[in-house]
Amino acid sequence: MAKYRADAFSQKVDLGVGVYRDLSGNTPVLDCVRRAEQIVLKSQSTKSYVAAAGREEFNSAVEELVLGTSHRARGDRRARTVQAPGGCGALRVGAELIRAAAPSSTVHVSDPTWGNHTPLLGSSGLKLERYPYYDAKAHALRFDAMLERLERAPAGDVVLVHACCHNPSGADLSTGQWQILTELLQRRRLTPFLDLAYQGFGTDLAADAAGVRLVTEALPEALIAVSHSKNLGLYRERVGALIVISEDESRADAVQSHVLQIARSIYSMPPDHGAAIAACIFADPKLRESWVSELDQMRGRIQAMRALLARHLRALTGDGTFDFIEAQRGMFSLLGVSAAAVDALRDKHHIYMTADSRMNLAGIMPHNAAYVAESIAAERFV
Ligand SMILES: Cc1ncc(COP(=O)(O)O)c(C=O)c1O
Repeated sequence: MAKYRADAFSQKVDLGVGVYRDLSGNTPVLDCVRRAEQIVLKSQSTKSYVAAAGREEFNSAVEELVLGTSHRARGDRRARTVQAPGGCGALRVGAELIRAAAPSSTVHVSDPTWGNHTPLLGSSGLKLERYPYYDAKAHALRFDAMLERLERAPAGDVVLVHACCHNPSGADLSTGQWQILTELLQRRRLTPFLDLAYQGFGTDLAADAAGVRLVTEALPEALIAVSHSKNLGLYRERVGALIVISEDESRADAVQSHVLQIARSIYSMPPDHGAAIAACIFADPKLRESWVSELDQMRGRIQAMRALLARHLRALTGDGTFDFIEAQRGMFSLLGVSAAAVDALRDKHHIYMTADSRMNLAGIMPHNAAYVAESIAAERFV
């Protein structure tokens, strides 16, 4: 980021950041957020403390958004949702819960995975292992290798799965693969920990939660870390939630009191402002409609840039090597080139991405797509 800022080249391109950018390169405040914020400011009568669980109306709306209206665990009162400081807060509280309940269990994370998973989960003291997930050079999922590895995981272990828009690869499981994974988790008595940070950035709000719903309908226990940083653009407000599904209602009550104890011991209570805005949007049909359409726009822009970049690359290379960019979902894809090529793209072409060749497609604009494609085509074999 520092190198990008210091670069004086007028055509420099930032594909390294982890946030959405609009056509002007801004990470906008959504219109629905601006309107909801006004409502919140007008109606707020106190800044007194909130409960450790956060806002009840936020928690139930998030639970419905993620699990849907007719989920079995909700009907059986086995799901408990607690507001958390962003997806990171939810991941950390979830890790502490696992550590308290089953200190010797291992959490299996995908290889590759989002860089923060290791510190967030590992600092609770839990052991982490990696399961094969994606081959960046071949631009392909390693689903068979993933199954083979998880098949050998001891019962009681936890498997962290990206719910949609896998970060950094953009490669998600198909419905059939979710079904196979669900069967494996069930049979091997493994606990899913689902990380849902990009709901609405892949296909739409419901489709992006389909994997989560499939797994959690079938298994007795699960954890879900939810983030609203991306889909509401509320990054700095720290809006998220931890949903825990338990085997029965009394266990769910016990789990909830444990989760709240953990929350109190780390940050006492979650920040309120962003959750108040989110709850207002979820509850107001007009604001919600505006949110869904703004979310469609963000997703549409990323998908259009994926298609444009892939088209330029197809024309320049004469082959379909980079077609995966168009097929993948969410903000990120791994270009799958060498570290030397990443360096050359930066030093010779002023195009910045992370060392593992992760590109944020929201950094592609109609005016720079051809330039980025030409640069990639020039350096791809370095
Ligand atoms: C895969 C994944 N999980 C969780 C998060 C957490 O986001 P936040 O704590 O900002 O809500 C992110 C953010 O980049 C992410 O990419």
